[in-house]
Amino acid sequence: MGRSCTSSAPVWPCIAAGTSFFRRPCEHAEWGDRAVRVTVVGAGYVGATSAVVLAYLGHRVTCVERNAARLDRWLGGEDPLGEPGLAELRGQVAVEFTSEACSIASAEVVIVAVGTPMDDNGRPDLSQLDAATAEIGGLAADGAIVVIRSTVPVGTCDRLQNSTLRRLRVVSNPEFLREGQALQDAFFPDRIVAGGPPEAQRPIEELYGRILEGRDLPGNPRQEGPPPLLWMSARSAELAKYAANGFLATKLSFVNEIANIAHAVGADASAVLGSMALDPRIGRHFLRPGLGWGGSCFPKDTRAFQVIAEGAGYDFVVLRAAIEQNARQLARFAKAIERAVPSRSTVGLLGLAFKAGTSDTRESPAIALARRLIRGGLNVVAYDPGVQQFPDEPRLSVRAALVEACADADAVVIATEWPEFAEMDLTALRLVTRGDLLFDGRNLISPARAALAGFRYHGVAGLGD
Ligand SMILES: NC(=O)c1ccc[n+]([C@@H]2O[C@H](COP(=O)([O-])OP(=O)(O)OC[C@H]3O[C@@H](n4cnc5c(N)ncnc54)[C@H](O)[C@@H]3O)[C@@H](O)[C@H]2O)c1
Repeated sequence: MGRSCTSSAPVWPCIAAGTSFFRRPCEHAEWGDRAVRVTVVGAGYVGATSAVVLAYLGHRVTCVERNAARLDRWLGGEDPLGEPGLAELRGQVAVEFTSEACSIASAEVVIVAVGTPMDDNGRPDLSQLDAATAEIGGLAADGAIVVIRSTVPVGTCDRLQNSTLRRLRVVSNPEFLREGQALQDAFFPDRIVAGGPPEAQRPIEELYGRILEGRDLPGNPRQEGPPPLLWMSARSAELAKYAANGFLATKLSFVNEIANIAHAVGADASAVLGSMALDPRIGRHFLRPGLGWGGSCFPKDTRAFQVIAEGAGYDFVVLRAAIEQNARQLARFAKAIERAVPSRSTVGLLGLAFKAGTSDTRESPAIALARRLIRGGLNVVAYDPGVQQFPDEPRLSVRAALVEACADADAVVIATEWPEFAEMDLTALRLVTRGDLLFDGRNLISPARAALAGFRYHGVAGLGD
């Protein structure tokens, strides 16, 4: 963050005076209607979304970003993340983006939304978090609430509460939003999970008041109504995030296993998974087989969850298997392509983002696949509606149009589930490709439609080992 500033008067006068924050504290008329002074640290997917949404709710929000290139784009009115609707909404609300950390001194709530990536050993790298909280610890006024929205190992909030942030109130409030629908998820979450010192609960309720009441929000409300605030210990809140992501990743790995087994025994994976979807105990989401899960959260969070379990002396067998299955799933898909095409063939790769609706390529299975195919001697030419370049891999060519990526391809490979790929004109595509192989890593295309267009189709569930 930028230059340092001096600290101001204590905040949360109501807490200090021992009065209730829950309704009508500090003379405000309705729960959630008092403008809280908020500083958000980190203007990535979580931070920028939180900042814009909290400003929409009427709070006075400053968002601090230390990455000059990213900040410049925000200051220029752009959204460097390409998150649908975010730039537009940002244009309608008063939120200040800055490199200066000064606003922390007068903030009642400081939200930490910095990255917690995986280090080279698969452990969470907390250097951004530790640097940000050290600065907050030096600047924030006594009693300010520090909300940790980043995904952090269990015990991190307690550690900060007992060290750098001793004067402050540390709350774990993990974020569950999905990239590509961040605004919808932020305004209409399934639940808000938070935990920390008991006196911090009411200010958190006040911060999210309109969301908790489902009042005057843009977008499509959930059928179930406004979300509950689940208040628990900071450790439980931290674990709740890993538990959810660990479970979802395991569900996907399990579904991929079912699809592989279905093929091996001559059953139809779609029919089997379709029947499971109607069982409310299973749920209809996350039942589509694919070439493996990835993204900025699942790989790092599952590895971190394993480390957390190991630290507690617990052997998390199921999660270990889910991670291993995921690596195998991608290898299996890559091997099938390598077996089918002669060496030095050209692959037209459709998709680079880790999922549709985002330009995020962190831990993307599509990128991992591209790298593996290139290492194996294949020439890979890619197209993704959300990713115009990928300088990290100079051997990978990225084209501006689907047809350009597939022109003269010996095989077309779908790696990201963009609707554009599901809807593409296969007959027209076949006219430009050299070969007739179509590998569908997301099971987007019906085999019959592919055959009609003259493609030899390989769905992700129909591949041998
Ligand atoms: N992306 C998601 O879908 C998602 C969903 C839920 C939770 N999370 C978690 O939220 C956290 C943030 O994720 P993200 O995807 O938004 O990360 P990100 O990398 O896109 O954004 C983090 C931002 O923080 C900035 N930053 C780091 N240190 C800073 C400092 N001291 N001062 C100012 N800015 C600083 C970085 O420059 C970066 O722009 C991670 O812990 C992640 O696991 C992410």
